[in-house]
Amino acid sequence: MKKLLVTGGAGYIGSHTVVELLDTDYEVVVYDNLSNSSPISLDLVFQITDKRASLIEGDIRDEQKLDEMCRDSWHWQTKNPMGYVS
Ligand SMILES: NC(=O)c1ccc[n+]([C@@H]2O[C@H](COP(=O)([O-])OP(=O)(O)OC[C@H]3O[C@@H](n4cnc5c(N)ncnc54)[C@H](O)[C@@H]3O)[C@@H](O)[C@H]2O)c1
Repeated sequence: MKKLLVTGGAGYIGSHTVVELLDTDYEVVVYDNLSNSSPISLDLVFQITDKRASLIEGDIRDEQKLDEMCRDSWHWQTKNPMGYVS
């Protein structure tokens, strides 16, 4: 299964995109600083699709966190099946 990163995926356009991607059987990782959204939007995505997107809370301007996330993506995904990392 292909894994996609959706920045801003907890927001309005992002969460609608995540629904479509999950329905197309992509594995989805949302990277969002939650400055204008809440993890609840991904619970709603789950209610619609019956599939979970993982959520990593972080800012797209945080280069170090992005590097760590890409390097460790397999690790955190397997250690945190619910997918929430702050
Ligand atoms: N029709 C409706 O009901 C409705 C509802 C909401 C919004 N809208 C429209 O949709 C558009 C906005 O939607 P959108 O999805 O672009 O905005 P959004 O604010 O809903 O989504 C942006 C997401 O990016 C995140 N974010 C912002 N800065 C970030 C950063 N530096 N690093 C990581 N994450 C960051 C926010 O937390 C948010 O989750 C507007 O045109 C608005 O009018 C329509």
